[in-house]
Amino acid sequence: MRAVVDIDWETLRAAAREVQAHAYVPYSKFRVGAAALVDDGRIVTGCNVENASYGVGLCAECGLVSELARTGGGQLIAFTCCDGNGERLMPCGRCRQLLNEFAAPGCLFDTIAGITDIEGILPMAFGPRNLNDFDDRGEPA
Ligand code: THU
Repeated sequence: MRAVVDIDWETLRAAAREVQAHAYVPYSKFRVGAAALVDDGRIVTGCNVENASYGVGLCAECGLVSELARTGGGQLIAFTCCDGNGERLMPCGRCRQLLNEFAAPGCLFDTIAGITDIEGILPMAFGPRNLNDFDDRGEPA
């Protein structure tokens, strides 16, 4: 795991609290803000954006990874998420998978149980490497 002291968690948490105010949540009234430090030092954020077709609303993490791609890509090295009260929030299952896709090795997550790594929030994850085991016909490589 990366050294916990390297990460300015208070700055990251402040970014998540700021962005939750921009959430569009007319249906759940539940604001979420997410913020992450990227391996080049920039901070990316996202808020949840719902729509009338409830099930296809966008979680804050969707906005965050979209901003990651839009602003130059890279990998996440630290992530935090909060609710509308600024309290730490755990990403939903789908979003843990999203975060796994873009987490750098050793990426740290600010959880309700303390700082942990991807294994702590998504044990035995399915990920991009699983796809390398097969060739383009779907046969074992
Ligand atoms: N939500 C997120 O934005 N991220 C999560 O990881 C958990 C849930 C949103 C989705 C929905 O807009 C609201 O919280 C209530 O579920």
